[in-house]
Amino acid sequence: MTRTLIVTGGAGFIGSNFLLTLAKERPDWTLVNLDALTYAGNLENLVELEGNPRCHFVHGDICERADVERAFEAAAKGSGPVSIVHFAAESHVDRSIQSSLPFVRTNVLGTQVLIDAARAHGVERFVHVSTDEVYGSLGERGYFTEETPLAPNSPYSASKAGSDLLVRAAVHTFGFPGLITRCSNNYGPYQFPEKLIPLVISLASEGKPIPVYGDGLHVRDWLYVVDHCEAILAVLERGTVGSTYNIGGHNEYPNLEIVRRILSAFGQPESLIQFVKDRPGHDRRYAIDASRIERELGWRPRWRFEDALPRTIAWYRSQTQWLQRVRNGAYREYLRRQYGP
Ligand code: NAD
Ligand code: DAU
Repeated sequence: MTRTLIVTGGAGFIGSNFLLTLAKERPDWTLVNLDALTYAGNLENLVELEGNPRCHFVHGDICERADVERAFEAAAKGSGPVSIVHFAAESHVDRSIQSSLPFVRTNVLGTQVLIDAARAHGVERFVHVSTDEVYGSLGERGYFTEETPLAPNSPYSASKAGSDLLVRAAVHTFGFPGLITRCSNNYGPYQFPEKLIPLVISLASEGKPIPVYGDGLHVRDWLYVVDHCEAILAVLERGTVGSTYNIGGHNEYPNLEIVRRILSAFGQPESLIQFVKDRPGHDRRYAIDASRIERELGWRPRWRFEDALPRTIAWYRSQTQWLQRVRNGAYREYLRRQYGP
């Protein structure tokens, strides 16, 4: 079915990968990207879409109803029912510890503004892209299922849990066509180099020290971003309204192992590893049980870590200008506050 899609946060890491995937996989769809272009938004990720008559960019803030209305005006150029895939968020845990309010504003308030507008326009579906971090932290064993109680531990994850609950309440109270996805850690092209994998790649490429929090034995469940995008598309097209879908790849590694693999790809010594002060409230382990989306929607990750990590490293190696440009003044100022001069 031909669709018109409003994608929020489409100039960020996952949103831009999603738009690039859709432009290829669903060439007859109309795509409207509503993005405020914060430090994390980069239109350079989307140069491939420039001149595509079905792709529209609306520079706007999801917290401002007038901006959201402009996205609906752009969507009126498309055909078929309008749906929303909602990526826009403040996404970095360390930043939420430095300053929490922007997270509450965009992630909580912005999601409610979008829900109100989506209800007023009678959207067909609203896919809310959330995170496994809303479940809190695991011990050495076990997995997050969709029934795991929410127990967020950082201002970031608490604001995401708040937004999940607003979507849930709209479904329950108004019959809103909301669906929620909760994915584990992504990696791949266009990820901002504040997150572990691109940060380590950019530092290792320059032979600089690699900051590892605490003992480095915190575990994350890594998923290649293309697999995440395919899962979101499956939820948009075939998911059951009102349902939540966990997304993950059974691909758990302690942070130290990730850092060692990247250092080795650059032929750099492990002596570059620098154990630094731990992240306050640092969640010990995330691991996803994705059996619902596998069983109900037939989604499975296609990429193996052994192939996708080297592919990601190769992408960053070939994109030195992209990397240089995103590491602008504002980013350097953040790094100074996070890691010291
Ligand atoms: P990102 O930080 O790379 O991109 C966020 C995008 O949202 C940017 O383009 C930014 O300009 C835009 N944005 C921020 N505030 C906005 C506002 N008020 N109005 C309009 N646009 C705004 O984030 P990401 O890593 O691509 O994550 C996208 C979504 O996926 C987030 O909701 C995040 O919680 C979720 N998620 C991320 C991961 C991960 O590993 N990165 C894993 C699971 C879920
Ligand atoms: O699990 C999904 C979440 O994954 C998403 O919801 C978030 O948006 C995304 O940022 C990510 O959160 P994490 O906190 O897990 O990702 P980050 O890349 O910041 O850190 C990964 C791990 O690496 C974590 O245990 C902290 C550690 N780390 C991170 C940085 C930036 C370090 O040891 N050193 C660092 O300098």
